[in-house]
Amino acid sequence: MSAPSSSPSPSPRKRVLSGVRPTGPQHLGNLVGALRNWIRLQDLYDCQYAIVGWHALSSEYMNSKVIRANALEVALDWLSVGLDPAKSVLFLQSEVKEHAELHLILSMIVPLPWLERVPTFKEMQQEIRDKDLNTYGFLGYPVLQAADIVIYKADFVPVGEDQAAHLELTREIVRRFNRIFGDILPEPETLLTEVPRLAGTDGRKMSKSFGNAIFIKDEPAVIRQKILPMVTDTRRVRRTDPGEPNDCPVFTLHKAFVPKDAREEVAQGCRTAGIGCLDCKKVVLDHLLRELAPIQEKRKALEANPKAVWDILEEGNAKARRVARATMDEVRAALGF
Ligand code: TRP
Ligand code: SF4
Repeated sequence: MSAPSSSPSPSPRKRVLSGVRPTGPQHLGNLVGALRNWIRLQDLYDCQYAIVGWHALSSEYMNSKVIRANALEVALDWLSVGLDPAKSVLFLQSEVKEHAELHLILSMIVPLPWLERVPTFKEMQQEIRDKDLNTYGFLGYPVLQAADIVIYKADFVPVGEDQAAHLELTREIVRRFNRIFGDILPEPETLLTEVPRLAGTDGRKMSKSFGNAIFIKDEPAVIRQKILPMVTDTRRVRRTDPGEPNDCPVFTLHKAFVPKDAREEVAQGCRTAGIGCLDCKKVVLDHLLRELAPIQEKRKALEANPKAVWDILEEGNAKARRVARATMDEVRAALGF
């Protein structure tokens, strides 16, 4: 075999890595806040997207059997919204054991105070009262995240604002590693995803743990039942009271799912009391359900053949392992092992 002589070898694409904990099916907040962006990045970069089972284990260790089932739910959502195994590496972190080895090595050089001052450490412990998160593994959560990223020498990590502190810590760990063992690991850049926050059914930020989420896989009837009773701008007590869309949780859904023209018409109708909240909710439902229809159709087809989904992940695991192993060879050599 000879390489084509006319075309110069294309410069390798920059590498992207991101991940999600398998806590269950993905909701509209995940779609708007992460997945839409990840889908777009597939055509620009060499993307790796990980379902991070070991991170889920750090809080779900009493309930570890659900993690695998949840990973399948995430994979089903990913494939149905358009993450494409022909473009990106979709894989299971816990099936690429090299992450654990790098996590162990990094844990030796991370000063404890760096971890104790990560805001999510104390926040999560306070928020999640029904689980004991005062563990060695949970404290090391961001070290494992750093390992996920640097084992692929990722250039960019697309995440939301809530992950900014973890990414800053990753960069600090990389600098310390390189100072001690030599320049091996690149410092990843955060690709901060600007997203208008999406309200859940109770008006608070949409989140699985609040129980206010609308899931990508929810049947249309369920989505209707969730959206129709949603709280609106409190100024609209009566149908004749004008409202302000920017103060309305429902309108956060319009911003994500209703095209500009239709959205502006609705906003005008709200401010003049020209339309009622029910009319307004029907507009967003209409657009949302239309967007979800092909996604849900694809999901149903995939659900009928989970073996094919596991196979796709296994292929991703194998691709990820090749890169992770090459990095670990370098890391071990740098340590003199
Ligand atoms: N901590 C991330 C979250 O809760 C998940 C995650 C684990 C991750 N490893 C990662 C995100 C690596 C980006 C890159 O959302
Ligand atoms: Fe909210 Fe729409 Fe009602 Fe205005 S009309 S308050 S945007 S639901």
